[in-house]
Formats: sequence, structure tokens, C-alpha cells
Amino acid sequence: MKLERLDKIIAARTGYSRRDAKELIRRGRVEVSGKTARTPDAKIDLEADTLRVEGRELLVKEHLYLMLNKPAGVLSAARDPKQPTVVDLVPEKFRRTGLFPAGRLDKDTEGFVLITDDGEFAHRILSPKSHIPKTYEARLNGPVTPEMIRAFEDGVYLEDGILCLPARLRVLEEGPHPLAEVVITQGMYHQVKRMFVSHGRKVLSLRRTAMGGLRLDPKLAPGEAREILDKELGTILDKI
Ligand code: URA
Repeated sequence: MKLERLDKIIAARTGYSRRDAKELIRRGRVEVSGKTARTPDAKIDLEADTLRVEGRELLVKEHLYLMLNKPAGVLSAARDPKQPTVVDLVPEKFRRTGLFPAGRLDKDTEGFVLITDDGEFAHRILSPKSHIPKTYEARLNGPVTPEMIRAFEDGVYLEDGILCLPARLRVLEEGPHPLAEVVITQGMYHQVKRMFVSHGRKVLSLRRTAMGGLRLDPKLAPGEAREILDKELGTILDKI
């Protein structure tokens, strides 16, 4: 059981002020586990209760973890004054204060972005020490050679001389513009694109398909998000 004051949780989950939250409770606009709440200092159990404010169901859980299928053209940021961000795409029922993307994809990269309000968990998966594998599909302007596969396994030197940790590279589709799968355990700026550039290839499009052992849900169309289930959360930390 994890008890919190009702007005505090309404404010945190909606962006209303504490004063507005108290007023909504007084007006009978708030239901906790099906019963109308009457007092702002009433407690809500974050692990067991449900919450409805003005008829809208809000998730009370302490932390939220979302899998978003990021479309190209959207920034991996919490907010931006001019451009749409991944947090702007979060469906209304999941909106709450403090959401941010745990890790960044380039604006033109698509695929799996994890959005959460749990700073500690984000730190665990982003820390360079964790070596969480991230899997990408890259469409290339030329073939993947056996030498490239070996070089990725040994660790690629980027054009500025930085040596990357070993990465896995395999071909998913042959052709003039092959589709390659790359698994890296770091998160350097433009890393996948730069790894291919150092072998004379241009990445025509890039998509993240997994974080750790958790794959992007194929049911999510670009721009859609769903909650990551408790049983899935641990698999992100799996070394695949
Ligand atoms: N590597 C890149 O080059 N871009 C991304 O968005 C992610 C990994």
C-alpha cells in the first residue's frame, strides 16, 4: 500500500493546481475506486485505487512507462517551443507531469522511444555502464560486406578516431538498398549513422526496434503509444 493525499495526486496527474484539485473534490467531481471523494486530505492508494476526475480516468500509479513508436520528424524531447515532441504524442489518458523520453533518437529516426517519469529507471537504462543493447534497422545505400560485419564485431573507429564497443550487424534484406540490423550497447550522438559512414555507407532511414530484450510492439502505428507492462519492464534490462 502506498498512500498519498488526493489533491496532491490530482495535481500531479493533471497539471491542475492543488487549489483547483481541492475545488474539484469539493464539487464532487472526483471519484476514488467508484466512490465520490469529499475531502482533499483523503488518501489514495497508488497501488490499488482507481481515480476519475470530471469523468476522466487517470492512472494513479507512482510511475508510468510508455513505449512510443516515434514517427520521423518529431523531436525526442519533453517539450519544444516550435516543434512537436514525443511527449506531445502521449495519449491523454497517460498525460501527467514529469514525463520525458529516456534517451534520444534523431529527429529523422523512427521507432521505440521509452517515455517515463521515473528518473531512477531512466538513469539505469541510459548509464553507459549498463550496456543495455539497442537494436536498430538501417536502410543502406550499398551492400553489407563480410568485412563490415567483422569490423562491427571488433569495434568500429568513427571518423574522429573514437572506438565504438563491439556491435552486432546482420543483413535482413538484400538488394541495392539492403536492410541491416545493428545492435549497439552505447548511445553516442548519431552513432549508428556514423558507424556506417566510417565504412562508406549512408543510412537512408533508421528505426529502433528494441531496447534490451523488449521489442517495439508491431501493433503500434507510428505516433501510437502503449503502457509497458510490469512483466515487460525487467526485460529492458536484459542483455540479449
Ligand atoms: N544512431 C543514430 O545515428 N541515430 C539515432 O537516432 C540513434 C542511433
